[in-house]
Amino acid sequence: MTNTNYLIIGSGVAGLTFALRIAEQFPDKKVTIVTKANADESNTKYAQGGIAIVTDKNEDSYQKHIEDTLICGDGLCNESVVRMVVTEGPQRLKELIEWGAKFDKNSDGNLNLGKEGGHSENRVVHHKDQTGHEIERAILGQVYQKSNITVLDHHFATDLITAENYCLGAYVLDQKTQKISTYKSDITLLATGGIGILYGHTTNPAIATGDGIAMAYRANASIKEMEFIQFHPTAFYEPTTGSKFLISEAVRGFGAYLRTKNGRRFMIDYDSREELASRDIVSQSIDLELKKSGDDCVYLDCSHLDIEAFKQHFPMIYNHCLKAGIDVTKDWIPVVPAQHYICGGIVVDMDGKTSVNNLFACGECSQTGLHGANRLASNSLLEALVYSSRIFEYLSNPALKTEVPNIAIPEYNSMEKPEIDTDYLNTLKANLQQLMRQNAGIVRYETDLQNAKIQLLEWKAAIEKLGENHQLNSAYFELLNMITIGSLIVTQSIERKENKGGFVKFEAPSFK
Ligand code: FAD
Ligand code: SIN
Repeated sequence: MTNTNYLIIGSGVAGLTFALRIAEQFPDKKVTIVTKANADESNTKYAQGGIAIVTDKNEDSYQKHIEDTLICGDGLCNESVVRMVVTEGPQRLKELIEWGAKFDKNSDGNLNLGKEGGHSENRVVHHKDQTGHEIERAILGQVYQKSNITVLDHHFATDLITAENYCLGAYVLDQKTQKISTYKSDITLLATGGIGILYGHTTNPAIATGDGIAMAYRANASIKEMEFIQFHPTAFYEPTTGSKFLISEAVRGFGAYLRTKNGRRFMIDYDSREELASRDIVSQSIDLELKKSGDDCVYLDCSHLDIEAFKQHFPMIYNHCLKAGIDVTKDWIPVVPAQHYICGGIVVDMDGKTSVNNLFACGECSQTGLHGANRLASNSLLEALVYSSRIFEYLSNPALKTEVPNIAIPEYNSMEKPEIDTDYLNTLKANLQQLMRQNAGIVRYETDLQNAKIQLLEWKAAIEKLGENHQLNSAYFELLNMITIGSLIVTQSIERKENKGGFVKFEAPSFK
């Protein structure tokens, strides 16, 4: 058994920020990060557009950012949370810069601020089109310098250890030795990110399988608003399944137009903000256009833009397109909506506390009340930075008495068993992804959801039975977790009766 004071599951912006701050505050305490792939692999690493922060108080104001967030969340945001996150943003940005993260500046030395859908002002602080990569690089570099932080990469947390509604740590699979060990901790933080792989067509990388939310659910933590899946309107269209390259919303903020195959700027028909309507509206409009036309994709036209400035701001996107045979100076970029983000998750209060004692959550796996029915672009990195710091501040309060109950923890039963059939797992995963795309996509139908619910229950029973008499590996746990997440999305979609933001449900299909 390994003992640690703080066990952090996940090494994206949320987990790393908390680790760094708590390790600095308590140099004599042990901080352990377990992360299931390379340490920098995360949704964070792929973030493009940037972080929404009010920095220019002449043009912009906290109030405008708050209002944009509330409008986007379609009446379901918690206003106190929105106010807190927006107003704490500048301080979090200052820390990131102190840790060495670099953000683009104008020739006058001020931050260059991008614009994205749903924002009334330019307020997106960015590092070209690779903001997440830059943030991950800077914070991870700091983390490696702290002698009281241990980073265990290729370590997969399989389950939380709980008793009497306390979290006591987690079971962790070392993916190199395939051995599961017990990690006992005073405080456990879930910072496990998103769920995109459940849909197959996603902007998320392979790590995004909803493990933290599924583990929290098994530990009886409260999980809410899983029906609010955000589909990004502009993923690069390629007719294969799997993770898709994102064409940042900042490209539309820079002036790009959405067009049908015939060249029609269809967003004009849907919203007065046109291409810069919020993400839910743009994705739903594209979905409708594609259903009407039968086309595979719509197009993003950048050919009228200042191409030298475009290359400066979006070098990665420019090069990705070029490699795929698209010269953005004259060709339109083929795009489709793809799963991008989950707005719901593990319910936390304003200190990041879950409903299980000594278990905290932050970042994409959490449900804070910031996003409501649809997340405003570039509010996610901001939320992760603010909440990881809120948790740190809560736990650093000298008046706080953390009760750690003295309950015996069972060691993981690691009896040798036969290996699991990988082909079976792969086939089930592909079927699951197809089911989620067809029955729980941008527009949902009651009958499809009811059918999906039954199918998911069957698959859950089958995979749990398989688990009883086989050696369990990370592919098994990921699939079990994805089926659990699928069930949560479907059940909560059935429960929601009113269409809001990114959630659209009808009784029966009109286009199919
Ligand atoms: P992540 O960064 O996803 O980190 C999760 C970590 O948990 C990873 O290290 C993973 O390996 C680990 N993990 C997961 N399960 C386990 C397990 N069982 N055991 C051990 N470790 C585990 N947001 C913005 O605000 N602005 C943007 O411009 C922006 N652009 C984006 C572009 C793309 C392509 C994508 C995919 C997302 C974008 N987002 C953006 C969203 C944002 O990047 C994420 O929501 C945010 O980075 C999530 O951070 P996180 O720390 O919560 O999770
Ligand atoms: C993007 O760059 O379009 C992604 C921004 C976000 O997800 O907030």
